[in-house]
Amino acid sequence: MAQATTIGVVVGSIRPDSINRKLALALGALAPEGWTLEHIRIDDLPLYNQDDDKNPAASVKRLKADIARADGILIVTPEYNRSIPGVLKNAIDHASRPYGQSAWAGKPAGVIGTSGGAIGTALAQQHLRNVMAYLDMPTMGQPEAFVQFKEGLFDDKGRIANDATKQFLQKWMDSYVAWVQRHTEQAAEKVAYV
Ligand code: FNR
Repeated sequence: MAQATTIGVVVGSIRPDSINRKLALALGALAPEGWTLEHIRIDDLPLYNQDDDKNPAASVKRLKADIARADGILIVTPEYNRSIPGVLKNAIDHASRPYGQSAWAGKPAGVIGTSGGAIGTALAQQHLRNVMAYLDMPTMGQPEAFVQFKEGLFDDKGRIANDATKQFLQKWMDSYVAWVQRHTEQAAEKVAYV
C-alpha cells in the first residue's frame, strides 16, 4: 500500500477564480495514490508586523501548524510585476518567525506557476527560489515549469485539457513526488542515525 504523504499547497493568489488555484487543483489530480494536497489558507493573515511575534494571531498559528504537519510544500504562484505577490511574501514572512522558529526549514519543496505572459511566471519563480534558499527549503531545481495560461488549459472538470500539457505536468509532478520522497527518507535516516 502507498505510504500516506501530505503536501501543503500555498497558492500565491487569494482570488477565488485564480488560475494558479486551478493549476494547483489540477496538479492534485496528477499526484499518486496516498498523496494528499492540502491547501494552506493565507487570505486571513494580518500584515506581518515583527512586534506581533510574541503574540501571533490565531491565523498565523494555524499557518505554522499547517506547514509543520506537511511532509512537503508546493508553491503555485502568479507573477506580479516580475516578482511574487505580496500576499505570498506576507505568508512566507509570517511562518518564518520568530527567528529560529521558522516552519519552513527543511521542508522539501516545489515551485510552479501560471500567468498569461509569455514567460509564464519564470521571474516570480526565480525570486521565490532566492527566498526559499535562505529559508533552508530544499527546492527541486529541475524540471522547471513555466505555464503560459491560455483559455482551454483546464477542461470543465478542472483537469488539464491538452494531452501534451498533461504529460508535461505529469512528468513535473512525478519528479516532485520523487524529490519529496528522497528528502523525507533522508530525514528519517538521520533520525534513525541520531
Ligand atoms: C499581473 N500579471 C502579470 N503577469 C505576468 O506574466 N507577469 C507579471 O509581471 C504580471 N504582473 C502583474 C501584476 C499585478 C499587480 C497583477 C494584478 C497582475 C497578470 C497575472 O499573471 C494575471 O492577473 C494572473 O491571472 C494572476 O494569477 P491568478 O490570480 O489568476 O492566479
